[in-house]
Amino acid sequence: MAAVSEIAPDVFRISTFVPDFNLQFNQFLVRDEEPLLFHTGPRAMFAVVRDAVATLLDPAKVKWIGFSHLEADECGTLHEWQQLAPASTAVCSLVGKLVSIDDFMAVRPSKGMQDGEVLTTGRYRFRFLHTPHVPHCWEAGLLFEETQRTLFCSDLFHQDGDVEASTHSDVLDRCRQVLVEYQQGPLANYVPYSTLTAPTLHRLAGLQPKTLATMHGSAYIGDGSRALHDLASMYKEVLGPTL
Ligand SMILES: [Fe+2]
Ligand SMILES: [Fe+2]
Repeated sequence: MAAVSEIAPDVFRISTFVPDFNLQFNQFLVRDEEPLLFHTGPRAMFAVVRDAVATLLDPAKVKWIGFSHLEADECGTLHEWQQLAPASTAVCSLVGKLVSIDDFMAVRPSKGMQDGEVLTTGRYRFRFLHTPHVPHCWEAGLLFEETQRTLFCSDLFHQDGDVEASTHSDVLDRCRQVLVEYQQGPLANYVPYSTLTAPTLHRLAGLQPKTLATMHGSAYIGDGSRALHDLASMYKEVLGPTL
């Protein structure tokens, strides 16, 4: 059973801890006139996520299904969700739509967002940021909810463990620990370090988010701008060129 908590007004974090991976998988439901689910979770979690959403609203009423990039934990049950919610539309980057999503994932044509485009769901406004290779994958993008300043940041700020739903404490040490450990095992190079990495993170910092809604770990509530600048420094230190 998933743990559900409200991390920002009408933003609910649905979290399932998988002990074998020592990892939480979080999805976010935004309760608005046109409800938005960000991340579907992988197929093994479909029933768990659906049942958690049902405690908040009728899952068949979900209108938007958003995600950052093509991966099971991001959009693995897009097909199932679109069958359950007959008016739902996937929302992703234009690259995602053109290259993969409409071809083999979406039941109906997806909404391919261009950088800076805004999706309004009622009271809330989601600005789309195209962030190629941040956290990873060409088609990667993020949503920033402008009225409450919540950044849905996918794998950025990934932390391991069965941690609290949200925290006001710095999570950077936890993030660093994950990257360092992953680099030493079969999951090495989870996060690429490219010429786009630092500029993208600094650009996201310019949004001045108040809440960083991460897929794995605690949502960070506080100075999101500073956290993103710090994340850029940490990525450079752990993943950047050594010369
Ligand atoms: Fe990912
Ligand atoms: Fe992920």
